[in-house]
Amino acid sequence: MNPDFRISDDPAGAAATLLEAAAGHVCITGGSTPKEAYELVAAKRDDWSGVDFWFTDERCVAPDHEHSNFRMADEALLGAAEGATVHRMKGELGPVEGAADHEREYEAAGRPEFDLILLGMGPDAHICSLFPSDPALGEHDRPVMGIETPGMAPLVSRITFTLPVVNASRSIVFLVTGDDKADAVARAFSGRRDPTAPASLVEGEVAVLLDEEAARRL
Ligand code: 6PG
Repeated sequence: MNPDFRISDDPAGAAATLLEAAAGHVCITGGSTPKEAYELVAAKRDDWSGVDFWFTDERCVAPDHEHSNFRMADEALLGAAEGATVHRMKGELGPVEGAADHEREYEAAGRPEFDLILLGMGPDAHICSLFPSDPALGEHDRPVMGIETPGMAPLVSRITFTLPVVNASRSIVFLVTGDDKADAVARAFSGRRDPTAPASLVEGEVAVLLDEEAARRL
């Protein structure tokens, strides 16, 4: 991995700028960090014709649940993204059926390589719902998997894209902020592949949007 570190006092704004120019298949992360970026780009871009939104992962809850990544992104951006096609992971189906359902949707779309994938990172250096030392990290064939027991809160089952899909993306961008992520960032970008730090298994050219706090240990 060859990280391009972009440290600033406004990583959300930097992410919004990248999303404003995004086209094709765009895979967005859940969690809390990206919400500001989604709100910022929603205020700047109203024509999303030709954009297919995908999610890196989803919690196995209803789409209106407080832990739903879809709900967060829909309220911040997708609900106003005119012309976009949204491929929602149906978390309410549970990890097994939900992963099978989304795999069918991904196959039906032609197993697209994402033009842009925006990744978050947990304080344990997880990405998507690929948690430290999880067997799913070794999956090379299936594009989508169910995660019965996540390694971090919220402690609900998950649906996640797998590393081959992440690594096939044309543009890989991390958005990571906060002092609580500093250790994870250091482990993710140490140059050593480490299954206990799933972010370190991302390959290729990556852009890393950081604030000073998250970059503290680099
Ligand atoms: C999720 C996300 C996950 C997220 C990290 C960081 O479902 O939680 O997709 O991969 O990016 O957990 O989350 P925060 O931004 O809330 O710290």
